[in-house]
Amino acid sequence: MRHCSGGGGGGGGHGRQLLLLAVLACSWAAPAEAQPQQAAARTDPVEAAALKAILRRWRTKPPTTWNISGEPCSGTAVDGTDIDNSPTINPGIKCDCSFNNRTVCRIVKLRVYALNVVGQIPAELENLTRLANFKY
Ligand SMILES: *[C@@H]1O[C@H](CO)[C@@H](O)[C@H](O)[C@H]1NC(C)=O
Ligand SMILES: *[C@@H]1O[C@H](CO)[C@@H](O)[C@H](O)[C@H]1NC(C)=O
Ligand SMILES: *[C@@H]1O[C@H](CO)[C@@H](O)[C@H](O)[C@H]1NC(C)=O
Repeated sequence: MRHCSGGGGGGGGHGRQLLLLAVLACSWAAPAEAQPQQAAARTDPVEAAALKAILRRWRTKPPTTWNISGEPCSGTAVDGTDIDNSPTINPGIKCDCSFNNRTVCRIVKLRVYALNVVGQIPAELENLTRLANFKY
């Protein structure tokens, strides 16, 4: 008993650390658990970062149909929507999600229409390695 309560004093701080670790572990575990419920394919992180950098450079706001803060290759980027002739999806992208056994999406098309970005080809475009179609 005495040994326990004596060790308990020192163990109190230790216990708090363990608790903190447990909380940290839980906050890491939560997003990982949520992932399998979403579509399996995710945008390649380098491409997602490049895309965000490009939009920042152009000072364009992504259309409301495009959830840039979340998964860029979603919604109109992966469904059957014709982005070439849409007045609202501007800028717009299309993705191919068949990479790495359909787990990785890469941006294959970037369309910008009349946004005054001509002449500014951002360096980040080089990281969109599968971009076959850049329209502006
Ligand atoms: C956008 O994506 C984020 C992260 O995936 C998500 O939390 C948020 O609810 C999404 N917003 C909309 C409007 O879909
Ligand atoms: C690809 O994904 C399918 C379905 O998830 C799986 O059955 C298959 O084993 C995977 N192939 C490779 C090469 O990982
Ligand atoms: C391309 O991606 C790499 C790896 O993330 C990064 O280090 C590099 O800065 C990127 N290039 C540009 C021009 O942003």
